[in-house]
Amino acid sequence: MTDIARFIDEMPKAELHLHIEGTLEPEMMMALAKRNGVELAYGSVEEIRAAYEFSNLQDFLDLYYQGMSVLITEQDFYDLTAAYLAKCAEQNVTHVEIFFDPQGHTERGVAFETALDGITRALDAGEAEHGISHKLIMCFLRHLSEEKAFETLAQAMAYRNRIYGVGLDSSEVGHPPEKFERVFKAAAEAGFVLVAHAGEEGPADYVHGALDALSVVRIDHGNRALDDPGLVKRLADEQIALTMCPLSNLRLCVIDRISDHPALTLLDAGVRVTINSDDPSYFGGYVNENYHAVQQGLELGLDHIKTLARNSYLGSFMSEGEREAALAKFDAFAASAS
Ligand code: ADE
Ligand code: ZN
Repeated sequence: MTDIARFIDEMPKAELHLHIEGTLEPEMMMALAKRNGVELAYGSVEEIRAAYEFSNLQDFLDLYYQGMSVLITEQDFYDLTAAYLAKCAEQNVTHVEIFFDPQGHTERGVAFETALDGITRALDAGEAEHGISHKLIMCFLRHLSEEKAFETLAQAMAYRNRIYGVGLDSSEVGHPPEKFERVFKAAAEAGFVLVAHAGEEGPADYVHGALDALSVVRIDHGNRALDDPGLVKRLADEQIALTMCPLSNLRLCVIDRISDHPALTLLDAGVRVTINSDDPSYFGGYVNENYHAVQQGLELGLDHIKTLARNSYLGSFMSEGEREAALAKFDAFAASAS
């Protein structure tokens, strides 16, 4: 292993773009299907993995929603989240901000509380066991209606102490941010922090829309911002963090090869780029594998890697005190490693 690869694996880091349902490994999918008596379209772990060939976001989403059908009980959500946090501990992730998709569960008859209770119980256990701090962000599915998003927000109101923010995910093109302007305004009034997926497959205009119509403070993906120099300057000037996901972009054909990934150009333009895994079970790598991919594909040096890792804390929703402590630990690690 090269020195820089070891540095990546060992450095402390935060993960800011992670769909907990996208951590469902085929082995767990099979085991939960058996435990819950759910019929799967696949007979083996190998068959599941072989199906993970995507030509775009929708191809993936079709399998992602199908995969979640095995998540039924509170214990299932606990097991899913606990497995992800064990992986984080292995990869030296010290802070996570994870998404969940309540409508992916309520739409098939699983209660909002079942998902929330299992996830938060595991997050609390993960903090006690591994020292990993966390924030939970609830996403609205943008292919569903504004009315359904309002229903979901109403369900979340009782849990503002456990749900830190709201986000927007699922099929992007044809579902611009403006569709959810009113629901995001209501969420802001209720005290939720706001983020949204934008510019993954959708145009740079959707990034503007997320910032202007939804008033988000962080953009998930944001690849297409590169098409609009004025937008890149705005992201840099306002230090809006982008939670980028290189292996996801490769597997969903947002880019043809990692050497085409916009992370380096944006970083060099002064944008607060971060590296994350999105749906690691489906895209072939957790956060460290994503760092390795961009380090190799974009030929990043140690200074870029350090900036990306520091950005993961700077772009997080940690308190100022937690952030300063995390950055000091990172800097001490970097000093001792060089
Ligand atoms: N849901 C899970 N992963 C997603 C992604 N990369 N884009 C949009 N919605 C998602
Ligand atoms: Zn995502």
